[in-house]
Amino acid sequence: MARTDFVDDFLKGFTCVIITGASSGIGRVILSRLGKSGTAAAVFNLSRTAPEGVPNSLKFSHLTCDLAQPHEIEKVVGELRKLMPREGRILLVNNSGFGAYGEFPAPDLAHTLRMVDVNMRAVVHLTGLLWPDLKARGGQVATVASLAAYQPTPLMTTYAATKAFALHWSIALDAESRPYGVRCVAICPGPVSTNFSKAAGFTGSTGIGGQTAEACVDEALHAMAKAQPQVITGWKHKLLGWFSARLPKPWAAAIGLRVIRRLRLDRYVKKA
Ligand SMILES: NC(=O)c1ccc[n+]([C@@H]2O[C@H](COP(=O)([O-])OP(=O)(O)OC[C@H]3O[C@@H](n4cnc5c(N)ncnc54)[C@H](OP(=O)(O)O)[C@@H]3O)[C@@H](O)[C@H]2O)c1
Repeated sequence: MARTDFVDDFLKGFTCVIITGASSGIGRVILSRLGKSGTAAAVFNLSRTAPEGVPNSLKFSHLTCDLAQPHEIEKVVGELRKLMPREGRILLVNNSGFGAYGEFPAPDLAHTLRMVDVNMRAVVHLTGLLWPDLKARGGQVATVASLAAYQPTPLMTTYAATKAFALHWSIALDAESRPYGVRCVAICPGPVSTNFSKAAGFTGSTGIGGQTAEACVDEALHAMAKAQPQVITGWKHKLLGWFSARLPKPWAAAIGLRVIRRLRLDRYVKKA
Protein backbone atom coordinates (compact mmCIF):
# COMPACT_ATOMS: atom_id res chain seq x y z
CA MET A 1 0.00 0.00 0.00
CA ALA A 2 1.28 3.50 -0.82
CA ARG A 3 2.62 5.48 2.13
CA THR A 4 -0.03 8.21 1.76
CA ASP A 5 -2.90 5.69 1.66
CA PHE A 6 -1.46 3.89 4.69
CA VAL A 7 -1.44 7.14 6.72
CA ASP A 8 -4.88 8.19 5.39
CA ASP A 9 -6.35 4.82 6.48
CA PHE A 10 -4.76 5.21 9.90
CA LEU A 11 -6.22 8.71 10.33
CA LYS A 12 -9.64 7.57 9.11
CA GLY A 13 -9.66 4.95 11.89
CA PHE A 14 -10.54 7.53 14.58
CA THR A 15 -13.86 9.22 15.33
CA CYS A 16 -12.23 11.84 17.55
CA VAL A 17 -8.86 13.61 17.22
CA ILE A 18 -7.63 15.89 19.99
CA ILE A 19 -4.44 17.83 19.34
CA THR A 20 -2.65 20.45 21.40
CA GLY A 21 -0.80 23.34 19.79
CA ALA A 22 -2.17 23.12 16.23
CA SER A 23 -2.02 26.94 16.04
CA SER A 24 1.59 26.79 14.80
CA GLY A 25 4.45 24.68 13.45
CA ILE A 26 4.32 20.88 13.70
CA GLY A 27 0.76 20.89 15.08
CA ARG A 28 -0.52 23.09 12.27
CA VAL A 29 1.00 20.74 9.67
CA ILE A 30 -0.63 17.74 11.37
CA LEU A 31 -3.95 19.59 11.11
CA SER A 32 -3.48 20.25 7.40
CA ARG A 33 -2.48 16.59 6.82
CA LEU A 34 -5.67 15.54 8.65
CA GLY A 35 -7.58 17.77 6.23
CA LYS A 36 -6.14 15.88 3.25
CA SER A 37 -6.77 12.42 4.73
CA GLY A 38 -10.52 12.33 4.16
CA THR A 39 -11.17 11.65 7.86
CA ALA A 40 -14.71 12.10 9.14
CA ALA A 41 -13.45 12.49 12.74
CA ALA A 42 -14.37 15.39 14.99
CA VAL A 43 -11.08 17.30 15.38
CA PHE A 44 -10.37 19.48 18.43
CA ASN A 45 -7.43 21.84 18.93
CA LEU A 46 -6.38 22.98 22.40
CA SER A 47 -4.06 26.01 22.56
CA ARG A 48 -4.09 29.67 23.58
CA THR A 49 -4.68 30.94 20.02
CA ALA A 50 -6.88 29.53 17.28
CA PRO A 51 -5.20 28.04 14.19
CA GLU A 52 -5.63 29.93 10.92
CA GLY A 53 -6.40 28.31 7.57
CA VAL A 54 -8.06 25.19 8.98
CA PRO A 55 -9.03 22.87 6.08
CA ASN A 56 -12.76 23.22 5.26
CA SER A 57 -13.03 19.44 4.97
CA LEU A 58 -12.54 18.99 8.74
CA LYS A 59 -15.23 18.92 11.43
CA PHE A 60 -13.09 21.24 13.50
CA SER A 61 -13.42 23.02 16.85
CA HIS A 62 -10.86 25.19 18.62
CA LEU A 63 -11.02 25.17 22.41
CA THR A 64 -8.94 27.93 24.00
CA CYS A 65 -6.71 26.57 26.76
CA ASP A 66 -3.50 27.66 28.43
CA LEU A 67 -1.97 24.29 29.25
CA ALA A 68 0.22 25.87 31.93
CA GLN A 69 -2.98 26.32 33.98
CA PRO A 70 -4.31 23.07 35.50
CA HIS A 71 -7.79 24.55 36.06
CA GLU A 72 -8.02 25.40 32.33
CA ILE A 73 -7.20 21.78 31.46
CA GLU A 74 -9.98 20.53 33.78
CA LYS A 75 -12.41 23.02 32.21
CA VAL A 76 -11.50 22.22 28.61
CA VAL A 77 -11.89 18.47 29.15
CA GLY A 78 -15.38 19.18 30.53
CA GLU A 79 -16.17 21.06 27.28
CA LEU A 80 -14.61 18.26 25.21
CA ARG A 81 -16.77 15.64 26.92
CA LYS A 82 -19.93 17.52 25.80
CA LEU A 83 -18.71 17.86 22.19
CA MET A 84 -16.82 14.67 21.38
CA PRO A 85 -18.49 11.69 19.65
CA ARG A 86 -19.57 9.01 22.14
CA GLU A 87 -18.10 6.05 20.27
CA GLY A 88 -15.08 5.09 18.23
CA ARG A 89 -11.31 5.28 18.63
CA ILE A 90 -9.61 8.42 19.96
CA LEU A 91 -6.35 9.98 18.79
CA LEU A 92 -4.72 12.34 21.29
CA VAL A 93 -1.67 14.28 20.09
CA ASN A 94 0.24 15.96 22.92
CA ASN A 95 2.17 18.44 20.78
CA SER A 96 2.19 21.80 22.63
CA GLY A 97 5.53 22.69 24.11
CA PHE A 98 8.35 25.19 24.13
CA GLY A 99 12.03 25.52 25.01
CA ALA A 100 14.53 28.05 26.30
CA TYR A 101 18.25 28.58 25.88
CA GLY A 102 20.86 29.78 28.37
CA GLU A 103 22.33 29.09 31.80
CA PHE A 104 19.75 27.77 34.27
CA PRO A 105 17.18 29.21 34.92
CA ALA A 106 17.35 31.48 31.85
CA PRO A 107 15.37 33.46 30.89
CA ASP A 108 13.89 33.31 34.42
CA LEU A 109 12.52 30.80 36.91
CA ALA A 110 8.85 31.60 36.18
CA HIS A 111 9.36 30.86 32.45
CA THR A 112 11.21 27.63 33.29
CA LEU A 113 8.42 26.47 35.58
CA ARG A 114 5.81 27.22 32.88
CA MET A 115 7.88 25.05 30.53
CA VAL A 116 7.82 22.20 33.05
CA ASP A 117 4.05 22.65 33.35
CA VAL A 118 3.31 22.66 29.60
CA ASN A 119 5.89 20.06 28.49
CA MET A 120 5.29 17.56 31.31
CA ARG A 121 2.47 18.31 33.75
CA ALA A 122 -0.12 19.15 31.09
CA VAL A 123 0.73 16.01 29.08
CA VAL A 124 0.09 13.80 32.11
CA HIS A 125 -2.97 15.81 33.19
CA LEU A 126 -4.72 15.83 29.79
CA THR A 127 -3.89 12.20 29.03
CA GLY A 128 -4.95 11.18 32.55
CA LEU A 129 -8.35 12.86 32.26
CA LEU A 130 -8.97 11.20 28.86
CA TRP A 131 -7.49 7.83 29.91
CA PRO A 132 -10.79 6.15 30.89
CA ASP A 133 -12.21 7.06 27.45
CA LEU A 134 -9.05 5.87 25.68
CA LYS A 135 -9.04 2.55 27.57
CA ALA A 136 -12.73 1.95 26.95
CA ARG A 137 -12.70 2.92 23.26
CA GLY A 138 -9.12 2.22 22.12
CA GLY A 139 -6.88 4.62 20.25
CA GLN A 140 -3.50 6.27 20.33
CA VAL A 141 -1.61 8.86 22.35
CA ALA A 142 1.18 10.51 20.36
CA THR A 143 3.48 12.75 22.40
CA VAL A 144 5.96 15.13 20.81
CA ALA A 145 9.24 14.77 22.72
CA SER A 146 12.56 15.70 21.04
CA LEU A 147 15.97 14.48 19.93
CA ALA A 148 17.10 16.39 23.04
CA ALA A 149 15.39 13.67 25.10
CA TYR A 150 18.26 11.25 24.39
CA GLN A 151 20.99 13.06 26.33
CA PRO A 152 21.41 15.57 29.15
CA THR A 153 21.79 18.89 27.31
CA PRO A 154 23.54 21.81 29.05
CA LEU A 155 22.22 25.31 28.25
CA MET A 156 18.89 23.67 27.37
CA THR A 157 18.94 21.78 30.66
CA THR A 158 15.31 21.94 31.72
CA TYR A 159 13.88 21.67 28.19
CA ALA A 160 15.88 18.52 27.38
CA ALA A 161 14.94 17.00 30.74
CA THR A 162 11.22 17.66 30.14
CA LYS A 163 11.54 15.86 26.81
CA ALA A 164 13.44 12.93 28.41
CA PHE A 165 10.44 12.66 30.74
CA ALA A 166 8.01 12.69 27.78
CA LEU A 167 10.00 10.01 25.94
CA HIS A 168 10.28 7.60 28.88
CA TRP A 169 6.72 8.24 30.04
CA SER A 170 5.28 7.55 26.59
CA ILE A 171 7.30 4.36 25.98
CA ALA A 172 6.44 2.93 29.41
CA LEU A 173 2.77 3.84 28.99
CA ASP A 174 2.75 2.05 25.63
CA ALA A 175 3.86 -1.19 27.30
CA GLU A 176 1.07 -0.82 29.91
CA SER A 177 -1.70 0.18 27.55
CA ARG A 178 -1.33 -2.31 24.67
CA PRO A 179 -3.77 -4.82 26.25
CA TYR A 180 -6.47 -2.12 26.16
CA GLY A 181 -5.96 -1.40 22.47
CA VAL A 182 -4.25 1.89 23.22
CA ARG A 183 -0.83 2.55 21.70
CA CYS A 184 1.53 5.37 22.65
CA VAL A 185 4.07 6.89 20.27
CA ALA A 186 6.88 9.27 21.25
CA ILE A 187 7.80 11.58 18.36
CA CYS A 188 11.33 12.94 18.62
CA PRO A 189 12.18 15.64 16.08
CA GLY A 190 15.60 17.23 15.78
CA PRO A 191 15.63 20.92 14.80
CA VAL A 192 12.53 21.77 12.72
CA SER A 193 11.82 25.18 11.14
CA THR A 194 8.82 26.47 13.10
CA ASN A 195 8.21 29.28 15.61
CA PHE A 196 10.02 27.12 18.17
CA SER A 197 13.30 29.09 18.10
CA LYS A 198 11.44 32.42 18.54
CA ALA A 199 9.44 30.98 21.43
CA ALA A 200 12.74 29.73 22.91
CA GLY A 201 14.02 33.34 23.02
CA PHE A 202 16.03 33.57 19.80
CA THR A 203 15.67 36.55 17.46
CA GLY A 204 15.10 34.26 14.47
CA SER A 205 16.73 31.28 12.84
CA THR A 206 19.85 30.04 14.64
CA GLY A 207 21.30 28.75 11.38
CA ILE A 208 21.15 25.15 12.65
CA GLY A 209 19.92 23.14 9.68
CA GLY A 210 16.92 20.98 10.24
CA GLN A 211 13.81 19.48 8.76
CA THR A 212 10.78 21.27 7.42
CA ALA A 213 7.68 20.76 9.56
CA GLU A 214 6.13 18.90 6.58
CA ALA A 215 9.00 16.35 6.41
CA CYS A 216 8.92 15.89 10.18
CA VAL A 217 5.14 15.34 10.24
CA ASP A 218 5.31 12.93 7.29
CA GLU A 219 7.73 10.69 9.23
CA ALA A 220 5.86 11.13 12.49
CA LEU A 221 2.49 10.12 11.01
CA HIS A 222 4.02 7.11 9.29
CA ALA A 223 5.48 5.96 12.63
CA MET A 224 2.11 6.60 14.32
CA ALA A 225 0.35 4.50 11.66
CA LYS A 226 2.83 1.69 12.40
CA ALA A 227 2.39 2.25 16.17
CA GLN A 228 6.16 2.53 16.68
CA PRO A 229 6.81 3.31 20.37
CA GLN A 230 9.40 5.96 19.38
CA VAL A 231 10.56 7.75 16.26
CA ILE A 232 13.42 10.20 15.72
CA THR A 233 12.59 12.16 12.57
CA GLY A 234 15.34 12.85 10.00
CA TRP A 235 18.14 10.36 9.24
CA LYS A 236 20.96 12.62 10.54
CA HIS A 237 19.00 13.08 13.76
CA LYS A 238 18.47 9.30 14.00
CA LEU A 239 22.25 8.78 13.85
CA LEU A 240 22.87 11.53 16.41
CA GLY A 241 20.26 10.10 18.77
CA TRP A 242 21.69 6.61 18.41
CA PHE A 243 25.21 7.75 19.35
CA SER A 244 24.33 10.21 22.11
CA ALA A 245 22.02 7.71 23.84
CA ARG A 246 24.92 5.23 24.07
CA LEU A 247 27.47 7.59 25.65
CA PRO A 248 27.84 7.67 29.45
CA LYS A 249 25.52 10.53 30.43
CA PRO A 250 28.19 12.81 32.03
CA TRP A 251 30.28 12.45 28.83
CA ALA A 252 27.29 13.26 26.67
CA ALA A 253 26.65 16.39 28.78
CA ALA A 254 30.31 17.50 28.60
CA ILE A 255 30.51 16.95 24.83
CA GLY A 256 27.10 18.60 24.38
CA LEU A 257 28.28 21.70 26.27
CA ARG A 258 31.38 22.05 24.04
CA VAL A 259 29.37 21.59 20.84
CA ILE A 260 26.64 24.05 21.88
CA ARG A 261 29.24 26.65 22.98
CA ARG A 262 30.95 26.30 19.59
CA LEU A 263 27.62 27.13 17.87
CA ARG A 264 27.74 30.53 19.67
CA LEU A 265 23.95 30.59 20.00
CA ASP A 266 24.24 33.64 22.32
CA ARG A 267 24.48 35.74 19.14
CA TYR A 268 20.83 34.98 18.41
CA VAL A 269 19.36 35.42 21.89
CA LYS A 270 16.88 38.31 22.23
CA LYS A 271 18.22 40.98 24.59
CA ALA A 272 15.90 41.81 27.51
N1 LIG B 1 10.85 22.94 16.20
C1 LIG B 1 11.80 22.19 16.74
O1 LIG B 1 13.00 22.36 16.44
C2 LIG B 1 11.41 21.09 17.70
C3 LIG B 1 12.35 20.06 17.93
C4 LIG B 1 12.01 19.04 18.82
C5 LIG B 1 10.78 19.05 19.44
N2 LIG B 1 9.90 20.06 19.21
C6 LIG B 1 8.61 20.03 19.92
O2 LIG B 1 7.57 20.08 18.97
C7 LIG B 1 6.38 20.59 19.60
C8 LIG B 1 5.75 21.64 18.69
O3 LIG B 1 6.65 22.73 18.58
P1 LIG B 1 6.84 23.56 17.21
O4 LIG B 1 8.21 23.32 16.74
O5 LIG B 1 5.71 23.31 16.31
O6 LIG B 1 6.82 25.05 17.82
P2 LIG B 1 5.80 26.26 17.64
O7 LIG B 1 5.62 26.58 16.21
O8 LIG B 1 6.31 27.32 18.56
O9 LIG B 1 4.41 25.68 18.21
C9 LIG B 1 4.24 25.45 19.59
C10 LIG B 1 2.77 25.18 19.87
O10 LIG B 1 2.65 24.95 21.29
C11 LIG B 1 1.54 25.71 21.76
N3 LIG B 1 1.74 26.14 23.15
C12 LIG B 1 2.82 26.74 23.68
N4 LIG B 1 2.55 27.10 24.96
C13 LIG B 1 1.28 26.70 25.22
C14 LIG B 1 0.42 26.80 26.34
N5 LIG B 1 0.79 27.42 27.48
N6 LIG B 1 -0.82 26.28 26.25
C15 LIG B 1 -1.24 25.68 25.09
N7 LIG B 1 -0.48 25.55 24.01
C16 LIG B 1 0.76 26.07 24.07
C17 LIG B 1 1.48 26.93 20.87
O11 LIG B 1 0.13 27.39 20.82
P3 LIG B 1 -0.36 28.82 21.42
O12 LIG B 1 0.80 29.74 21.39
O13 LIG B 1 -1.50 29.21 20.50
O14 LIG B 1 -0.84 28.50 22.80
C18 LIG B 1 1.89 26.37 19.51
O15 LIG B 1 0.77 25.94 18.76
C19 LIG B 1 6.84 21.12 20.95
O16 LIG B 1 6.49 20.18 21.96
C20 LIG B 1 8.35 21.21 20.83
O17 LIG B 1 9.01 21.08 22.07
C21 LIG B 1 10.18 21.08 18.34
